[in-house]
Amino acid sequence: MSENKAETKGPDLSQGVAADTIAEGKMTLGHVGDDAVLLARRGKTFFAIGATCTHYGGPLAEGLQVDDSVRCPWHHACFDLRTGEALHAPALSPVECWLTEVRDGKVFVRGKIAPAKSTRFASAAGSPQKIVIVGGGAAGFAAAEMLRRHGYQGGIVMLSDDDAPPVDRPNLSKDYLAGNAPEEWVPLRGDDFYKEQNIELRLKTAVGEIDARKREVVLGNGSRIGYDRLLLATGAEPVRLQLPGMDLRHVHTLRTLRDCRAIIAAAGTAKRAVVMGASFIGLEVAASLRARNIEVHVVAPEKRPMERILGPQMGDFVRKLHEEHGVIFHLEDTATAIDASQVKLKSGGTIGADLVVVGVGVRPRLALAEKAGLAIDRGVTVNEYLETSAPGIFAAGDIARWPDPHSKGAIRVEHWVVAERQGQCAARNMLGAREKFVAVPFFWSQHYDVPLNYVGHAESWDELAVDGDIAKRDCVVRYKRGGKVLAVASIYRDAESLTAEAAMERETA
Ligand SMILES: Cc1cc2nc3c(=O)[nH]c(=O)nc-3n(C[C@H](O)[C@H](O)[C@H](O)COP(=O)(O)OP(=O)(O)OC[C@H]3O[C@@H](n4cnc5c(N)ncnc54)[C@H](O)[C@@H]3O)c2cc1C
Ligand code: FES
Repeated sequence: MSENKAETKGPDLSQGVAADTIAEGKMTLGHVGDDAVLLARRGKTFFAIGATCTHYGGPLAEGLQVDDSVRCPWHHACFDLRTGEALHAPALSPVECWLTEVRDGKVFVRGKIAPAKSTRFASAAGSPQKIVIVGGGAAGFAAAEMLRRHGYQGGIVMLSDDDAPPVDRPNLSKDYLAGNAPEEWVPLRGDDFYKEQNIELRLKTAVGEIDARKREVVLGNGSRIGYDRLLLATGAEPVRLQLPGMDLRHVHTLRTLRDCRAIIAAAGTAKRAVVMGASFIGLEVAASLRARNIEVHVVAPEKRPMERILGPQMGDFVRKLHEEHGVIFHLEDTATAIDASQVKLKSGGTIGADLVVVGVGVRPRLALAEKAGLAIDRGVTVNEYLETSAPGIFAAGDIARWPDPHSKGAIRVEHWVVAERQGQCAARNMLGAREKFVAVPFFWSQHYDVPLNYVGHAESWDELAVDGDIAKRDCVVRYKRGGKVLAVASIYRDAESLTAEAAMERETA
């Protein structure tokens, strides 16, 4: 998604605004010509950058200033106020940066400043000649992009067994599946990007083995590619149920663009769908199929959707929200068989279905790491620098279990933003930065017009505090253990979500 020009609001900053009206931490939205510009202050210094997030166009002036950076309210991307650089995903492109001048007690925003090229780690001692990335998803792409952003000049080979270049995967269960997103939103970058950045992207290329001793990866066809540093970012694959009928043509799982296109094609003629699984992907798929006017039945073993992660109150809300949109739930039930026209339930009933989508969770793709003898603990074990047990081999994204300083445990999560940020951190560490991965986990989910944001990590809690009104879609839910806030879920309380994230960062700084 490219940066959208926001409708011009606020003062014309080229005409100047009184400096004492711009308080630190209180950003001002204005404009210069047609460009929406955000004005911020730190001490005596004023900064002006583009006001529209380069991820999905979030309004940065409604975000949070933390020191010299601003956080986007929608999905917590972080931009450098001094340079406009997208420091932390999910935004990857910078916003424009403007010159400011203080004269006679007024701040004026002058012309745009050319983006500064970062060469921070480009020529660090012992810089690798060649970096191989296994995986063309969130973590793999973010790593390759970050390597070039830092001016790394060596070879980058990205190997992916997918047939599509890196895509905006979260969109595949949301707007794109619902038919509300144009094709051009889906690739993270156009084909030109890889040529221009000299990134050798090899699609439909499965890596079968890692020869850690020789520092080579072995492809499915037996050929070998040497590396100085290797990033494993093989992601996860949907769990397939052991059921009669799972192989039928109208039964789908959803991970790749190809999967998504197959569901969209089937949705063209389908009248009634069964979605198995009532967690994030299953319910996002349910919402998208409802947008296509398909009758949707959700079958899941739990009592309430998403209760394990969000608690009972949010679970009830999510169920009601989907029911208001016509979704029919079959909870505390499972499917026992699928045939050409129906799904049989354990409870004894059947549901007619000409489309079935199975969204019952994913399994990390660990085969390569296991075969290479890397340390594994329900994921690839990495240290705080995201390095595996084999020197020179890093891991990031859905496969990585890392020491999380916030929850003080070794955790593995399946979040888009975490995967991208780990890819970015691993990229710098492959160039010798020795940067600890300390980001607070964040994910979002979207159901109809209701966005749900979650910061932190709480596998269990002994207290759940609801602030606001969940039913009115205006709430913050805090998950605590021993009085400590482990995680915060929110609906339309973006500022509080950002503040909670910043507080968790400070606790471990
Ligand atoms: C439909 C959908 C919607 C989602 N929505 C959200 C959301 O709203 N918010 C959120 O936080 N998270 C969301 N997620 C989860 C998020 O997409 C993942 O956490 C993220 O993609 C993980 O990134 P990754 O790089 O680890 O893996 P992936 O993005 O899955 O990439 C893995 C890559 O490795 C390749 N690969 C694997 N094995 C090999 C091999 N042996 N050889 C070569 N290539 C290989 C794969 O082809 C793929 O290119 C969603 C996931 C899906 C499927
Ligand atoms: S719109 Fe800004 S992070 Fe998504």
